[in-house]
Amino acid sequence: MFRAPLLMAARSTRLRELVERSRLSRPVVARFIAGRNRDEVLRSTELMLKGGLLVSLDHLGEDTTNAAQAGQLTASYVDILDAISECGFGAQAEVSIKLSAIGLALPHGATIAMRNTGIVCAAAQRAGTTVTIDAEDHATTDAGLELVRELRVEFPWVGTVLQAYLRRTEEDCRALADAGSRVRLCKGAYREPASVAFQDKGEVSASYRRCLDVLMGGAGYPMVATHDPAMITHALLAATRNGRGVDDYELQMLYGIRVDEQRRLADAGQHVRVYLAYGDEWYGYFMRRLAERPANLRFFLRALVTP
Ligand code: FDA
Repeated sequence: MFRAPLLMAARSTRLRELVERSRLSRPVVARFIAGRNRDEVLRSTELMLKGGLLVSLDHLGEDTTNAAQAGQLTASYVDILDAISECGFGAQAEVSIKLSAIGLALPHGATIAMRNTGIVCAAAQRAGTTVTIDAEDHATTDAGLELVRELRVEFPWVGTVLQAYLRRTEEDCRALADAGSRVRLCKGAYREPASVAFQDKGEVSASYRRCLDVLMGGAGYPMVATHDPAMITHALLAATRNGRGVDDYELQMLYGIRVDEQRRLADAGQHVRVYLAYGDEWYGYFMRRLAERPANLRFFLRALVTP
């Protein structure tokens, strides 16, 4: 009931200003955002790695409006990858990128996004780690997949995110289940029309299971991005059925969500990667986390009104 209005609110500039200005919202925001800057997120990264978890760092930013902004974000990715290299984290700490943040929506956006992601991938290669391209709204899916296809010519390890709520995704999984591919499968967090996306939770879960079966049965490296216990159980069974050991796939969750389960799975010998979002542009990401769970909204509103 709250999902659609919250996802609409995620696009509202006025509400964004209001929420960002409110100091009271900060403790709630901190639950999902791993740091406001490079040093803070590096500290969180170190703690995670010491605790036996892997990380993927997302420097937040969406709907970049000019090439200079896209260039700045690209430079900050290079900066964090240089830090990953200096700290010797290697592939334990990778990065995730939103193409809208790096210039895809600008005039000549495909060229700008290709150039910027190429720069980030070269820095990742130097640091001995990988890059995964996030999935945004369905209007960008084709452009994102095309960009990954081109990037993989030079950087075969570039990963891509697929969203199980899209009707097309099972087919995309088939196309991407080849050797060397890295696919992060999530349910999907945007507001999409019924013409392109399943609307019913049960249908989304059924699609997620079908997509998992395709990826686990293929030759690539599946990255199972979900907090849903039923999906995780399905993934583990599908991995065993397809003769995959723990090094042949990984489980992934978001920072601040089901933290005990992240620990439990890592302690049980699973590779668990935590997605750490950081930076000042947290509004859109934060609103999508609220939309996923009404209890988060109650917690947030209580923080806003409690003196
Ligand atoms: P579901 O929403 O059914 O949640 C299962 C259980 O997890 C809930 O019952 C609750 O216990 C817990 N939970 C889930 N979300 C919660 C929240 N916000 N707060 C508190 N508890 C919560 N989406 C996208 O469109 N593009 C992308 O690129 C990515 N990238 C991405 C990377 C990674 C590593 C993850 C884990 C997720 C994404 N997502 C994403 C988000 C994804 O599409 C989806 O919205 C969320 O993961 C929630 O879906 P679940 O599969 O967890 O199931």
